[in-house]
Amino acid sequence: DTWVGFQYIDMLTFSGGGTFDGQGALSWNQNDCHKNKNCKPIPVNLRFEFLTNSKVQDITSLNSKFFHMHVFRCNHTTFQQLTITAPDDSRNTDGIHIGASTGINITHAKIGTGDDCISIGDDSHEITVTDVTCGPGHGISIGSLGKYKDEKDVTGIIVKNCTVTNTDNGVRIKTFPDSPSPSTASGTHYEDIIMVNVSNPILIDQLYCPYTQCEPKPSSKVKIQLLV
Ligand SMILES: *[C@@H]1O[C@H](CO)[C@@H](O)[C@H](O)[C@H]1NC(C)=O
Ligand SMILES: *[C@@H]1O[C@H](CO)[C@@H](O)[C@H](O)[C@H]1NC(C)=O
Ligand SMILES: *[C@@H]1O[C@H](CO)[C@@H](O)[C@H](O)[C@H]1NC(C)=O
Ligand SMILES: *[C@@H]1O[C@H](CO)[C@@H](O)[C@H](O)[C@H]1NC(C)=O
Repeated sequence: DTWVGFQYIDMLTFSGGGTFDGQGALSWNQNDCHKNKNCKPIPVNLRFEFLTNSKVQDITSLNSKFFHMHVFRCNHTTFQQLTITAPDDSRNTDGIHIGASTGINITHAKIGTGDDCISIGDDSHEITVTDVTCGPGHGISIGSLGKYKDEKDVTGIIVKNCTVTNTDNGVRIKTFPDSPSPSTASGTHYEDIIMVNVSNPILIDQLYCPYTQCEPKPSSKVKIQLLV
């Protein structure tokens, strides 16, 4: 499920101006994970797991087969001067997905894909997104949350001084209906965000159910606290 991955490293610096071209065009149409639970995993371009005090900078990720960058259980790590590109109609090509991480900064990045520019999953804390341009795609998202049992809270997400252009959503929080765990997303802060040709600038969706793979009732138990 990984093209290039880094795990269990303290003080990694990963940079150099190179491009990771996932040549995803062939796999986008074959991705049936939205309707097939036992689908084959599709590789992400770059996977970062269990990193601490690290820096990823000056890298381009192009046309990944699945997510471009997957960040899991990383702490105190900065992602900057990144370019992440895939066509508007590519499926599940999220730019940067973060889960179970604390103290992550994403700054000075240019992200335009067929899916979320940035998505932030459960157990994420102190994630700061600044000076990012996003679009095309589905905007900057928290979630989806509440799909699985035992999900942990999301706290302290700050999105500041970002420009979102030609997307369906600007900033979005998405939680599944009938969520098995009553988690909370709190301390979410949106400031100085420019929206250009964005259909839903701010979208809080507590009945998020892509491809209608779930029952829409009862509604989500995930609590949301937002400062705009
Ligand atoms: C990251 O921080 C969390 C909470 O502070 C801690 O539980 C976890 O062990 C840390 N992860 C690493 C890879 O150091
Ligand atoms: C991330 O940015 C915040 C706010 O500017 C800063 O306090 C924090 O030290 C930064 N973290 C890292 C890992 O650079
Ligand atoms: C906001 O972000 C843009 C780049 O997207 C940058 O040029 C500008 O300096 C930033 N403004 C502030 C106040 O940080
Ligand atoms: C507005 O955004 C949509 C995609 O969300 C795009 O198809 C359309 O071309 C954009 N319009 C302009 C004027 O850029």
